[in-house]
Amino acid sequence: MSNTTLAEKIKKIQTPFYFYDIELLKKTAQAAITEAEKYGYEIHYALKANSNHKILKVLSKMGFGADCVSANEIIRAAECGFSPKHIAYAGVGKTDKEINTALDLEIFTFNCESLPEIENIDKLAAKKGKIADIAIRINPNVDAHTHEYVTTGLEENKFGISEWQFNEVVEKIRLLNNINLICLHIHVGSQITDMEVFKTLCKRVNEIQKTFELFDIKLPHLNVGGGLGIDYQNPDANSIVDFKSYFEIFSKNLNLHKGQKLHFELGRSIVAQCGSLITQVVYVKNGRQKSFIITDGGMNDLIRPALYHAYHKIENLTSTKAEKKYDIVGPICESSDCFAKAELINETQRGDILAIRSAGAYGEVMASQYNLRELPKAYYSDEI
Ligand code: LLP
Repeated sequence: MSNTTLAEKIKKIQTPFYFYDIELLKKTAQAAITEAEKYGYEIHYALKANSNHKILKVLSKMGFGADCVSANEIIRAAECGFSPKHIAYAGVGKTDKEINTALDLEIFTFNCESLPEIENIDKLAAKKGKIADIAIRINPNVDAHTHEYVTTGLEENKFGISEWQFNEVVEKIRLLNNINLICLHIHVGSQITDMEVFKTLCKRVNEIQKTFELFDIKLPHLNVGGGLGIDYQNPDANSIVDFKSYFEIFSKNLNLHKGQKLHFELGRSIVAQCGSLITQVVYVKNGRQKSFIITDGGMNDLIRPALYHAYHKIENLTSTKAEKKYDIVGPICESSDCFAKAELINETQRGDILAIRSAGAYGEVMASQYNLRELPKAYYSDEI
């Protein structure tokens, strides 16, 4: 959609809000599904990236499974058409209430992060007379070369079970009657753009599978998580990531056992580029050193720039004047409420409409009411 058509369509809507291009979502999702299907791989869409009903309904209809991290996400996924049989449930701190909800729905796997968690799931399943299918989340000690807040596969972080614990965990699992180990789960981090990381991951998984063979364990499923990064600099030139090369890496480098099914948990790469935060310019303030654009959207609406210093391309949808440099900031009472520094965009005036791009993943879901502001609403290209 061109900027002028978009500006025309959204002109009457109260800013700030999230705008989702449903056509792009479907194209992206289809590209992912087509490439994964070539190898019989299953993608569980990671709801944490975006759990809007509308987006979830599109994805469940297209054949994705789901990756959830709370009982509420599991309930939301089921409501939106994902079959519980295709729901993987991760998280280091699953509560009894959440585990019971997942047991009742008979999900695909509990991705277990520690021995006490495995013992607890066994106990709760026994009370219900059920057997829970579980995956062990392995901490592979692989550096994802990404932001420290979204790296998860290094030994020193809180996720997963490390190699030195395998023996104890396997011995324990053999003694428990109400869990059934069916899968190994590994996730190393998010926004990974260096494809070598996935090759290293494959090599580590091959080694780990060999270790499990020594325990006489060959599992029917393997889950390598998500993490495929997107191009925040060029959202139009690279609106859909190269799923072909991504899945090819796994098919070439990963040794699956005969009949073993490979699972993925992709979030960002499916939904990031279809969403923008739309915000209006409240004031333009010209300083001596620089000019500020002050928007009605703030860090409570999109926290990624403040929290991770993440870059999001920003476009002025209503100006075609020559480009100028601005710091683009929100109205929240903190200096960290800054969307971009020294960003080049078309000369801007009060009332202009800006699009903060690539905000479909970890945007709306991380919004808060900080400063007692309203949560941003969502609008969709096929409804307005
Ligand atoms: N599976 C597991 C176990 C995960 O922890 C995550 C993301 C995913 C799958 C999905 O990863 P993706 O394909 O979306 O990279 N709020 C941060 C991102 C946090 C990611 C947490 N885990 C951000 O805004 O960049």
